[in-house]
Amino acid sequence: MAYLLNANDYRAAARKRLPKGLFEYIDRGTEAELAMSDIRRSLDRIKLRQTVLTGHATCDMTTSFLDRSYPNPLIIAPTALAGLVSHDGEAKLARVASRLGIPFCVSTQSVTSIDDIRKGAPDSELWLQLYVWRNRELTWQLLERAKRNGVSTLVITADTPLSPKREYNQHNGFSVPFVPTLRGVSDILKRPGWLCSVMLRYLMTSGMPNYAHYPDAFKTAITRNAVAEDVKIDNGLSWSDIAEIRDRWPGEIIIKGVLSVEDATKAAKIGADGIVVSAHGGRNFDIAPAPVDVLPGIVDAVGRQITIMADSGVRRGSDALKYLALGSRAVLVGRLPLYGLAAGGEQGAYDILAMLIDEMHSNLVFSGSDNLEVFGRNAIA
Ligand code: FNR
Repeated sequence: MAYLLNANDYRAAARKRLPKGLFEYIDRGTEAELAMSDIRRSLDRIKLRQTVLTGHATCDMTTSFLDRSYPNPLIIAPTALAGLVSHDGEAKLARVASRLGIPFCVSTQSVTSIDDIRKGAPDSELWLQLYVWRNRELTWQLLERAKRNGVSTLVITADTPLSPKREYNQHNGFSVPFVPTLRGVSDILKRPGWLCSVMLRYLMTSGMPNYAHYPDAFKTAITRNAVAEDVKIDNGLSWSDIAEIRDRWPGEIIIKGVLSVEDATKAAKIGADGIVVSAHGGRNFDIAPAPVDVLPGIVDAVGRQITIMADSGVRRGSDALKYLALGSRAVLVGRLPLYGLAAGGEQGAYDILAMLIDEMHSNLVFSGSDNLEVFGRNAIA
């Protein structure tokens, strides 16, 4: 789509396409949305060195993390309800990731189950993001499902002990389970394209969308009110739970949402393979530090023991490069692929990530680098 030239264009197209409640659920932050603007400012503050006359016009973006080689250092972040943005959205994201040779991290709160995503994207590298449910037995069953579907990597989200206060969702009548309000329903009716191609398509095939990983006995259509206690996110999660999961899960474990050296050190000690230094895209804790402000300290403390990844606020290739320059081995992107999905379905999600990779490449060349593997803190001006 020739008119979609940057993330803002995709965002504007997503806004036009999605009901307001869904768009804002994806797009916005929490409370006063200080974290979101702080993340933006913190990234904008960083400048990269420019080195001229280096004699090369391209840069090798190949990189390795978690002992594997990838053509570029991106990961599609777990995002709840991606399947509402486009019909079968999670399988589409998995195929996009596969085309780009990068991992896709499925959210516990996806609309399509890991089994069906695997069927729709047989070759993709799937990771599973885990929200630990209060009922541990059911949580372990989810891990078994992940194993059966060839999930290599479990990403345990540690930064969501509570449901954050996002008042706009209430204003918009957007909730899960979806409770029809005049406002919510009228927003949906204003977006007939989305209504027909996403919602009605689900209703005519698999039925009302819901959190697909809920065990059958507890599965609640998102229009129904009761979400069983058993599958509520456990707000008492602790490091001893992580140790137990470490014993049960044979693959890699990543702790997502670490923002301090102390917690990073605990993650390394307990046997995690990596962490995501993440402010959850500014969606959870509005007065949390921005990832770039804590990343260097964390890399210095544990970067030689475990794989450090980062996310939050990536809107341009240069943003991703800044996280890499500060020592992150890979960068997760959350909202961008969702904007792409909304704007143009599977191809839109592919295009926005390809655009991001292009922007990373050109900024690397401008910086004078020819190889991402040697790109590091010395790249910062
Ligand atoms: C998220 N994120 C998220 N994280 C997680 O661990 N589990 C989840 O289910 C979700 N759900 C979710 C939904 C939506 C709509 C968004 C935008 C984000 C956070 C996500 O994984 C990632 O940390 C941030 O999105 C990164 O910031 P950017 O790239 O969106 O700025």
